[in-house]
Amino acid sequence: MRIDILTLFPQMFDGLLNCSIIARARERGLVDIRFHDIRAHTHDKHRVVDDYPYGGGAGMVLKPEPIFEAVEAIKAELGLSTVPTILLSPQGRLFDQIIAKDLAEYEHLILICGHYEGVDERVAEYLTNDEISIGDYLLSGGEIAAMVVTDCVVRLLPGVLGSEESLVEESHIGGLLEYPQYTRPEVYRDLAVPSVLLSGDHGEIARWRRQQSLLRTAKRRPDLLDKVVLSTEDRKLLSKASEIKS
Ligand code: ADE
Repeated sequence: MRIDILTLFPQMFDGLLNCSIIARARERGLVDIRFHDIRAHTHDKHRVVDDYPYGGGAGMVLKPEPIFEAVEAIKAELGLSTVPTILLSPQGRLFDQIIAKDLAEYEHLILICGHYEGVDERVAEYLTNDEISIGDYLLSGGEIAAMVVTDCVVRLLPGVLGSEESLVEESHIGGLLEYPQYTRPEVYRDLAVPSVLLSGDHGEIARWRRQQSLLRTAKRRPDLLDKVVLSTEDRKLLSKASEIKS
């Protein structure tokens, strides 16, 4: 997969590129991530990328021309007339694992990072196919959002994760929060690991983990539980746990 990122601050991505899974995926040629400085596509002496909003109001708006030209240059280089192009903005649809999975199917992606008070609406309307927000809060720019999307998508690409890690991934896509994990020591500062995990009874461990996932999700993210189809066994595990608690 190739991901082209349009930004005013390419240096913000240094950390993402040089760490862990993304770095390994790049080294192995599984993903090609390229950066395009929006300012490089200006033509005036001062390389101005923003301007006052029509109609007045506070802040500045990113001008359309450098962004259109940067995207067109990428498409020309790729020899393609259409490439999935996404604007990161708080106005977008809310990013989640399902969207990440969908995006991981593409061969190319262009991500545009907005800044200042916003981006000229013609970018969203005529240049991009999608607008994505990573959450209901305001970042100072789209860069961190583009990193979030890139990280989530790259780890889903074939061969990026080892087979063990991939298995974990599959269980998460089921829509429940993960069960609690423990490692050695068995007792740390008087805090003991749940005894079931040391029992060696794999059936019992699997039931306990499922129950913990269900309970956590019910308590912390009931909205997720609404979307999951629960088996009869799941319902039993949930009600048994709530009997114990009450
Ligand atoms: N730019 C500013 N805030 C954002 C958000 N929450 N998601 C995506 N891009 C953004």
